[in-house]
Amino acid sequence: MLSRGYIAFRGLLSRTGCLNIEQKRNAQVSIVGAANEIGSNLAILLKQNKYITRLNLYDDDEKVLRVGAELSEIPKGPVVTSYNGNSFLPASIRFSHLIIMVSRVPRRPGYTRDQMLEVNAPPVQKLCRTMADVNPDAFLAISTNPINSIIPLASSLLFRYSAYDAAKIFGITHIDTCRARAYASKALNVNPRHLHIPVIGGHSDKTITPLFSNITPSHYKVDPCQADTLTRLVKKAGMEVINNKLGIDSATLAMAWSINEFADNILQAMYGDYVVVNSYTSNPHYGTRFFSGPTRVGCYGIVETCNSNFNMTEYEKHILGNAITDINKDVARGEEYARVIAEVKH
Ligand code: LMR
Repeated sequence: MLSRGYIAFRGLLSRTGCLNIEQKRNAQVSIVGAANEIGSNLAILLKQNKYITRLNLYDDDEKVLRVGAELSEIPKGPVVTSYNGNSFLPASIRFSHLIIMVSRVPRRPGYTRDQMLEVNAPPVQKLCRTMADVNPDAFLAISTNPINSIIPLASSLLFRYSAYDAAKIFGITHIDTCRARAYASKALNVNPRHLHIPVIGGHSDKTITPLFSNITPSHYKVDPCQADTLTRLVKKAGMEVINNKLGIDSATLAMAWSINEFADNILQAMYGDYVVVNSYTSNPHYGTRFFSGPTRVGCYGIVETCNSNFNMTEYEKHILGNAITDINKDVARGEEYARVIAEVKH
């Protein structure tokens, strides 16, 4: 059992201030797992980001060197540097304000996200160990599955390595709200750009809980029958993509797009704005230790996690009730796994 300090938001007291607003482009961002399809697509999107001055790409796969070389041919945007192999991980993240981890073995058809824990946990442990050594103050955002267990695992590891700050660690679940917006916009025949739909709970078929009743602008209405269909679509979307790709990969392009939108929001927060991102974070408001939903972030990290003041339909309450049981199991598995791998050396 971790101590009460485990959920303390140390970021609020952190000495790292906002980035300099006068000098717009001065953020450094690292992508860990930049050779894979999500990582390389995210890299080209972040190459166009107005806040970033240095973009570091890291991967165990030497393909990352070719991704970096090609991006360096683009005559604008941040300076791109690529790093390959364990011994370069510290250099690749040392001075970054935001570290985005997208390393993962993709799921196969028929596999649930929680079956990916053992295969995806080792790179997370390696990153947490290195972060604790060289850059404990950075924001860490992870999209590696199973997010429901990986964030408790990473939090628990960072806590053991004396580098945990609950305000600065995010599971990127932005894809779920992107999908909800995309599907609802089709059903309602409106522009998704103007829609906001909270998706709470966790990031797995059983725990993703879209709240179509809370759609904004509130003059849009999703009727109960549409809500049922759209909810099923959002929950199953990840597996649909895997099946469409004949089991060769999971979602990559939409993932990269949603992580880019998430990262752009976080960078905006680092420059002093308050932003809301959909993410899975330490959160005690729902009877679980971690929970996903709209999260308010400022330049010191999370200032407000998703809390239980949504008006929900009976259908949404039912889905959420089931989700909470599963989230608690997933959190326990992640924390237990942290005990198993905490001292592994790479
Ligand atoms: C997704 O939602 O598409 C991702 O979590 C990837 C996956 O395995 O489903």
